[in-house]
Amino acid sequence: MKTFVLHGDFVSAPEPGRLETVRGGYMALENGVIQGLFPVLPERYRGLPVADYSGKLILQSFADMHLHAPQYPMLGLGMDLQLLEWLHAYAFPNEAKFRDPDYARLEYARLSRDLIRAGTTRAVMFSSLHTDATLILMEELEKAGITGYVGKVNMDRNATPGYQETTEESVSETIRFIEESARFRKVRPIITPRFTPSCSDRLMEELGRIAKEYGLYVQSHLSENLQEIEWVRELHPDCSEYWETYDKYGLFGDHTVMVHCIWSSERERRAMREHNVLAVHCPDSNVNVCSGLFPVIRMLDEGTWVALGSDIAGGADYHMNRVMTGAIRTSKARRIQSGWKDRFLQVTEAYYLGTTAGATYFGAGKGFSAGDRLHAIVVDESSFPENGNLSLQERLERAVYLMDEKNIAAVFSDGEQVVGSSV
Ligand code: GUN
Ligand code: FE
Repeated sequence: MKTFVLHGDFVSAPEPGRLETVRGGYMALENGVIQGLFPVLPERYRGLPVADYSGKLILQSFADMHLHAPQYPMLGLGMDLQLLEWLHAYAFPNEAKFRDPDYARLEYARLSRDLIRAGTTRAVMFSSLHTDATLILMEELEKAGITGYVGKVNMDRNATPGYQETTEESVSETIRFIEESARFRKVRPIITPRFTPSCSDRLMEELGRIAKEYGLYVQSHLSENLQEIEWVRELHPDCSEYWETYDKYGLFGDHTVMVHCIWSSERERRAMREHNVLAVHCPDSNVNVCSGLFPVIRMLDEGTWVALGSDIAGGADYHMNRVMTGAIRTSKARRIQSGWKDRFLQVTEAYYLGTTAGATYFGAGKGFSAGDRLHAIVVDESSFPENGNLSLQERLERAVYLMDEKNIAAVFSDGEQVVGSSV
């Protein structure tokens, strides 16, 4: 059923730090599209079937703007290593296993199911080098009801024997990936140079050309780790900053997803704003592989577009509510380091970053906007410790800190119910 009324306690974040709350409200949906959210159901919608979640929270679902799908099986491994050692010891060998399509089917079905049950309905992800496994990933995401962008990873240098492409293979397989993924409706291809050290200048040039020719967005990593930044400087002595190594090849434009940006200078951050680049903050990963503490408050105050990512498996948790609390903890650590001068991220801001900030990447409006297809989760708080009459903002705060899949009674994605018994 896609034309119905949703009833419950609604909390959305149309702006960072501003909530829109309706206790006991009614949301009317026509073919999965939000018509409006009302404190009292208007006459014209009476008679429609009601999905009655009275007493439960109805929140925006999550957007995970960066994760590595083939790193899911290695979740929680290699956490004593720093980025570059971790890539060689864990990431590359684990990703290489996805040359086997049966293994890919099994693992990607599991990942897709786990993400949707945790309330992630939108995602932007890296796959592995393998075109066939990448197409399998897209198929499994669509089946589970997840919308988003998936990239076949490109690497023609500095990887590992058996898990690296020639420049020619990388180019022809990227084109095959783009053309074969035209059959998917909810998951689209995105151009994915892994990061500058993984891609020769010729490959970067070709990828820039392909992105332009097919009109595709780009995703990559930027200014994550100090050793990595030094390495990029040696590889591109003609560029004074890391972002220029992408920009030089047309890989730093509108809606480019640049992941991490922990160490970005003022000039690099300005370039992101001028090019409408999305900076993805992955707090769990940044601390796990000892990269640094992302300056989220500075980025927001400067007006840089920031959203959140789990970055599994550098991040060891795909629950986006816990990525939100990770972002809050990182900003508090920065406050402590600043001698208690810097302010820290509020829960309402973190909720915005994990929902609306990512949703707008997909063309959605802010919060629960009329005209958007519904992306929402229903939270059953009955397993939380009892604490009398809380405000809707306090209930949101608790949900952000405490919930996991056992509290998620229903998930709606792209206007359809994909978890929970349907209306
Ligand atoms: N930089 C290049 N590849 C990776 C990766 O797989 N994870 C993280 N965190 N950073 C990267
Ligand atoms: Fe990553």
